[in-house]
Amino acid sequence: MTANLPSWPYSRYIAHRGGGRLAPENTLAAMRVGAAHGFTMFEYDVKLSSDNVLVLMHDDDVDRTSNGQGPAAAKPYAELAQLDFGGWHSAAYAGEPLPTFAAVARYTVANGIASNVEIKPCPGREAETGRAVALAARQLWQGADTAPLLSSFAEEALAAARKAAPELPRALLVEKVPADWRERLAKYDCVALNINQKDATRELIDAVHAAGYRIAAWTVNDPERARLLLDWGIDGIFTDELAAIRPAA
Ligand code: G3P
Ligand code: MG
Repeated sequence: MTANLPSWPYSRYIAHRGGGRLAPENTLAAMRVGAAHGFTMFEYDVKLSSDNVLVLMHDDDVDRTSNGQGPAAAKPYAELAQLDFGGWHSAAYAGEPLPTFAAVARYTVANGIASNVEIKPCPGREAETGRAVALAARQLWQGADTAPLLSSFAEEALAAARKAAPELPRALLVEKVPADWRERLAKYDCVALNINQKDATRELIDAVHAAGYRIAAWTVNDPERARLLLDWGIDGIFTDELAAIRPAA
């Protein structure tokens, strides 16, 4: 079944934003929690500060995940580095800093953890963010056993990543599976389609495999649903529920 599929040196269990619900998303503290729960692969979101430092952050604005306010796109790294990215989650994580992509690369590589780097550009910075992530990843993972999987909802970012570092594997992220998914995967020379778990069916998984691609689904937080998707042969599930859905010990 997987004979003609692209190589997939990744775990089928992927800790969403590092530590799922258990720790503040997209921080090094989250990754340590993910690792402590036995995960060997993390997904995290990367964007550019106003002065072009790659940092981990999901939203366009810093409000939800820090004690600051306003668009991340307008803030230089020195300003972002002053904010508390952990206190919103719980007192135990108060003061947790925003990590740079470089720091997270060092942590994951040093600990044998694979990465799905979601390119999450600030609006209007799609191509430059895709290019910056790909070039940084090429350098940061030089000599590492497992290359990071780069993914994005932003097709412009994927195109730029491909141009900058064609050798790094890519996945097309989609909110809804488009009718022309085969053409889009081919266009960006992707190895995988990363879908909303609501769209996952046995038929779609089989069709993606038959077309010669891998398929992963986000965000799977129901253990029964996780078991079903894995039984159907899905290549990866992203989860926030690290205690209930995790690799076997
Ligand atoms: O990369 C999978 C998943 O993280 C995509 O959605 O909004 O959680 O970044 P989001
Ligand atoms: Mg994400």
